[in-house]
Amino acid sequence: MTFRPDLLQGKAILVTGGGTGLGRAMGERFLQLGATVVISSRREALLQGAADEMMAAHGGTVVPLACDVRDPEAVARTIAAAWERCGGLDGLVNNAAGNIAAPTERLSHRAVDAVLGIVLHGSFYCTLELGKRWLEAGRKGRVLSIVTSYAEGGSAYVVPSAAAKAGVLAMTRSLAVEWGPRGITCNAIAPGPFPTKGAWDRLLPDATILESALGRIPLQRPGRLEELADLAAFLMADISEYINGDCITIDGGEKLKGGGQFSWMGQLTPAQWAALEASARGATQQDRGA
Ligand code: HXC
Ligand code: NAP
Repeated sequence: MTFRPDLLQGKAILVTGGGTGLGRAMGERFLQLGATVVISSRREALLQGAADEMMAAHGGTVVPLACDVRDPEAVARTIAAAWERCGGLDGLVNNAAGNIAAPTERLSHRAVDAVLGIVLHGSFYCTLELGKRWLEAGRKGRVLSIVTSYAEGGSAYVVPSAAAKAGVLAMTRSLAVEWGPRGITCNAIAPGPFPTKGAWDRLLPDATILESALGRIPLQRPGRLEELADLAAFLMADISEYINGDCITIDGGEKLKGGGQFSWMGQLTPAQWAALEASARGATQQDRGA
């Protein structure tokens, strides 16, 4: 393990979407580092199973609470219950998400609402509900939102998700300034591709699609869940308090490669590179001779 085993001792952290994928990996790491962890999502039985497995593996306390983050009253009830069970909360990870990869013109307004409801409204409801409690109690708090590497620049074919994640990022940066003076910091993590069942089955379901997606990554591999979990643990720990309003990308360099105008040159063969070099040197010689 990368950190001191008591890095998060005494903290209570709520992770939405905490029963699967990245949410579970983060919750598990928080637990290993001494935190009490509340995991929530829509599927109660899945949460209970995850909580039992996590406690069996690492000890400590995991509280499973079923909640649909699209329902603000359910969010209020869940945060009240989590606060009560843990004697207050110290951190929130807005991790629950939904995504649909499709040509945008094929989406119904209900499909748009499904994604915006989970990602944008859900993250906002959780942040607002817990933020109000922290402010009222005069207690410090940490909000960490899991966005995506396309939150900043948008992406074709996942447009509701891109719009919703951009909104979550705007919320993060805005509240960092508004609530920072009262002890609440807000940050985001922007992951590139990490192999989770939820994302892979929906967005990268076959070998050809997967190869195209992963071929864009300079490090030539997807992320490891523990890499993201360690970054999240750092951002939940006291040592990182001075980081406020930032979004840390963890994508093996994928975003930069996609953004560089000449990034496509990665496809050139050695012969093409040699021809290009000869041509460029020739052009320079010509200019000098002219
Ligand atoms: C077009 C679709 C669709 C699809 C659903 N819909 N899937 N339209 N293409 N593939 C439409 C439905 O027909 C319906 O519209 C509307 O969307 C709502 O669908 P429901 O199934 O009723 O919604 P719901 O049960 O709320 O499910 C929400 C969901 C689902 C987002 C559609 O996928 C979900 O539960 N996802 C949660 C987990 C998830 O997505 N994980 C991946 C996160 S990865 P009509 O008009 O027919 O009623 C991520 C970043 C990944 O975010 C980056 C990877 C590299
Ligand atoms: P995942 O396993 O599908 O996680 C999504 C979680 O959200 C599930 O646990 C799901 O549980 C929960 N959820 C969905 N709708 C909900 C709702 N209405 N209310 C409450 N919970 C809800 O996928 P993942 O890959 O781990 O994604 C986790 C986060 O990482 C997401 O924010 C995603 O956008 C982000 N991300 C992932 C990748 C990647 O490559 N994996 C890349 C970039 C960003 P229930 O179904 O039980 O509700």
